Amino acid sequence: MGGIAIKGCGKGIPRYSLHNRDLEEFLDTSHDWIVSRTGIEERRVAAPDEDNVSLSLLACGQALERAGVEGRDVDLIVVATATPDRMVPSLACTLQRELGSRGPALDINAGCSGFIYALAIAFHLMRGGIATRALVVGTETLTRIVDWRDRSTCVIFGDGAGAALLAPCPEGEGIIAASLDALGEGDGLIRAEGGGARMMASLAGGLVPGNHLLPSPLPHLHRTWNGIDPFLRMDGKEVFKFAVNKLCATVKELCSAAGVGTEEVSLIIPHQANLRILAAAAERLGVPKESFFTNIQRYGNTSAASIPIALEEALRAGMIREGDLVILAGFGAGMTWGGALLRWQDGQAIEGGRTA
Ligand code: UT7
Repeated sequence: MGGIAIKGCGKGIPRYSLHNRDLEEFLDTSHDWIVSRTGIEERRVAAPDEDNVSLSLLACGQALERAGVEGRDVDLIVVATATPDRMVPSLACTLQRELGSRGPALDINAGCSGFIYALAIAFHLMRGGIATRALVVGTETLTRIVDWRDRSTCVIFGDGAGAALLAPCPEGEGIIAASLDALGEGDGLIRAEGGGARMMASLAGGLVPGNHLLPSPLPHLHRTWNGIDPFLRMDGKEVFKFAVNKLCATVKELCSAAGVGTEEVSLIIPHQANLRILAAAAERLGVPKESFFTNIQRYGNTSAASIPIALEEALRAGMIREGDLVILAGFGAGMTWGGALLRWQDGQAIEGGRTA
């Protein structure tokens, strides 16, 4: 049985950037607090004419082009999102229509671990002979479900999409180990009740008082559900401890499954949640903090989109070379966590398929 590799990556980034200084205009916060506690300087906010479909299509288009694959040659789409544009049907089916692809298409929700879950699902479906070319997408419009009066959450999250094209490669290259896990006991630590069948979007009321203070084009984001709390809420302190523990455990587990030492890993691309989480994990693992790729400074926490966006940027920056060992690792709502260890295979030559 051959291997499965990521052959091309792409990202879809909203046009509008919201800097910490903009938040100071309407929120009891400061640029210095946000930078010192999280590392975030700015985040992207989807404008009214942008959504998960448009951002994902940008990301998929780049991933396909870089892999030298046409949309019609894709026979599996797995999308990870916690903020789908609508409940039914799945975003993956809409992407399939737009891209002219075929085969199974499904959405999954594993919070900020979503991309890792989607990657592992696609990997195993491909290994099982269900598909030969897969698009794995992580996409979020979190700014539409945060409470812009809640400084403990709204300063953290941002919007965006990332995609990876998976195709066959020689055994021992590409994805060489993957791990997934969840602890449902932590299901209250990160939650958003709005928009589900228990709290239908049709209950939406008017604008939240004070939203007129927000800079354009943000006011369209602020709907409330007549007394019911629909917004994203998080127990930051508990999540922080969980994140450091699970990030370290995932890196160790993947290295041990592949029989390699952590020092042999060239780059770790973690979910971009907080620079302090990454610094704490680096210290605990005994690796330099430069082992972790970061771009949270510019995008904030984009949940399921953060790892594929970071991977695209690490590749574009020339930080990953043929043969490098790379770890992708995520953690988030559920609580969920997981990772993948890859021996990087250059994206251009696809076995048994088209080439760029
Ligand atoms: O992607 C899913 C995974 N999510 C995460 O990994 C998030 C993990 N958690 C975190 O990143 C951090 O817990 C936060 C960044 C969310 C918060 O940082 P913290 O150091 O845990 O702050 P805290 O919640 O303990 O709050 C400390 C103080 C509080 O004031 P008092 O009670 O000490 O007077 C907060 O009210 O900071 C205050 N505070 C703020 N101050 C200014 C909270 N948010 C802000 C803010 N600006 N934006």
